[in-house]
Amino acid sequence: MADDPTMDAGKQARVSIGRLKLSNFRNYESLSLRLAPSHVVLTGENGAGKTNLLEAISFLSPGRGLRRATYTDVTRNGASDGFAIHASIDTPEGTVDVGTGLAGNGPGDTARRVRVNGVTASADDLLDYSRILWLVPAMDGLFTGPAADRRRFLDRMVLAIDPAHGKRVLDYEKSMRSRNRLLTEERSNDAWLDAIETPMAELGIAIAAARAELMRLINGMIERMPDDTPFPKADCLLEGELEQRVGIESATDVEEVFRRALHDGRTRDRAAGRTLDGPHRSDLLVRHRPKSMPAELCSTGEQKALLIGLILSHARLTGELAGMAPILLLDEIAAHLDEGRRAALFDIIEELGGQAFMTGTDKALFKSLEGRAQFFDVSHGKVVST
Ligand SMILES: Nc1ncnc2c1ncn2[C@@H]1O[C@H](COP(=O)(O)OP(=O)(O)OP(=O)(O)O)[C@@H](O)[C@H]1O
Ligand SMILES: [Mg+2]
Repeated sequence: MADDPTMDAGKQARVSIGRLKLSNFRNYESLSLRLAPSHVVLTGENGAGKTNLLEAISFLSPGRGLRRATYTDVTRNGASDGFAIHASIDTPEGTVDVGTGLAGNGPGDTARRVRVNGVTASADDLLDYSRILWLVPAMDGLFTGPAADRRRFLDRMVLAIDPAHGKRVLDYEKSMRSRNRLLTEERSNDAWLDAIETPMAELGIAIAAARAELMRLINGMIERMPDDTPFPKADCLLEGELEQRVGIESATDVEEVFRRALHDGRTRDRAAGRTLDGPHRSDLLVRHRPKSMPAELCSTGEQKALLIGLILSHARLTGELAGMAPILLLDEIAAHLDEGRRAALFDIIEELGGQAFMTGTDKALFKSLEGRAQFFDVSHGKVVST
């Protein structure tokens, strides 16, 4: 794999977390951790705080973190102030200090604040300094679970090519909720619905177009990946009328088609109590290429290997497009892989060039990373170098 001339991680900036400070985050009352740029292995008993630490790092990207938790849930039980996360991110241009949390917010102020080098910023601005991708055990059911989870996964993947995508999806969902509410109201009139459906159509097409573009890029990247790894290639397909059409027809035409569909679907949607057309109904279909089988029909282990392959392809794509190797959060990654697969995974991670955080209960599974990673023991919200 290392000799593949198309695998060009060399030009990407290496970005790593050099310091991490937490206060009142989950079971961490206060933590201050200094890190070298190499990979990080966190081991410890169940309930020690390993996933919590990865979750804290995931808040250094837009969104609700890798558990999609509420800010109340992530704030330490019994804390008198909100949580805070600070990190120093080492980049080729120097160190950037980023921080986020609720600490210092007044009563009732539940929005998380983001600061970059001491200056208030938006969560999307965090994407300028690092790209953070994760694989957690909760994603094991991605292929068999609800389509909403796959859409969320897909939309997070799109952030690699378009940092504005997250806000676009949120704005669309907000408009859709307004439309659904309006449809239930006696007094709702056509002019009000027109005023919502027009921007909704515009956002919907932008969402579909960004997803379709991501599909094109990720499938291209999967094509370029070597065949001889234990992580099988995936064939990804978007199921959704708008996503199908945007590649073929002009965006203006598809937008008009969607706007009409919303307009003509009002009676039906009113009866259903929700909007039945749109990109919020699309799905990501994944096939296991070597077996030529839909992912959801593959064995648990096959699904996991497929998902790892997909995440690694996406990590490589993100690195190439963002110009910086992503930081990877891999929760309990080693436990379900045999020795050969583990070794292959560590080699691929190494070659991707970013800092990877890996967790597990058994340190022995990470033995082959000795010399390539720093090891920490996690226990009761304390993290000690070993
Ligand atoms: N808001 C909170 N305040 C205090 N403690 C919390 C909070 N939220 C979760 N915890 C606790 O944090 C502990 C550590 O959780 P975490 O998921 O990080 O464990 P882990 O080390 O990943 O364990 P496992 O190996 O089982 O996955 C749990 O005991 C959990 O109850
Ligand atoms: Mg855990």
